[in-house]
Amino acid sequence: MITMAIREIRTYPDPVLRKRTDPVRSINGEIQKLIDDMVETMHAAPGVGLAANQVGVPLQVTVIDLSTRDDESLRHPLVVLINPEIIAAEGSITEEEGCLSIPECSEKVKRALKVTVKALDRTGKPFELTADGLMAKALQHEIDHLNGLLFIDRLSPLKKDFYKRKYRKTALQKA
Ligand code: NI
Repeated sequence: MITMAIREIRTYPDPVLRKRTDPVRSINGEIQKLIDDMVETMHAAPGVGLAANQVGVPLQVTVIDLSTRDDESLRHPLVVLINPEIIAAEGSITEEEGCLSIPECSEKVKRALKVTVKALDRTGKPFELTADGLMAKALQHEIDHLNGLLFIDRLSPLKKDFYKRKYRKTALQKA
């Protein structure tokens, strides 16, 4: 029987978000379960992308689903990326961005306009994906997660400091 489960999304400043994740060496049943759970967790949130360390698993796995976008030009079927790596990037664009791990926060972030990513799919088959628009933004955001980076790290030092203080305070209040 296959059962999926919604996993807890870790939020900043959880240290698991700050560690560089490890490559997946064997795509076994545990990884398949992780992928299914990540997709379910992302849909339930709801969000358009999720990295494994956001559910506390320090492995290079991410899922992105732009299949239900209203704007047809931004639509893209669900992609599962294992051990993804950006192999080409061009142009730049600054757009609003948010993150399930940093609730109630969105800021303009500068990213490459177009990227090419190489990765393995969930069967272990290598593939390359070239994208611009929302997909390019999502790929860069999720691959940043896998490298222990959050979008606030790409803001000006002043703004980054603001968020650090804000969330440190929230974490202390919760503790
Ligand atoms: Ni995020």
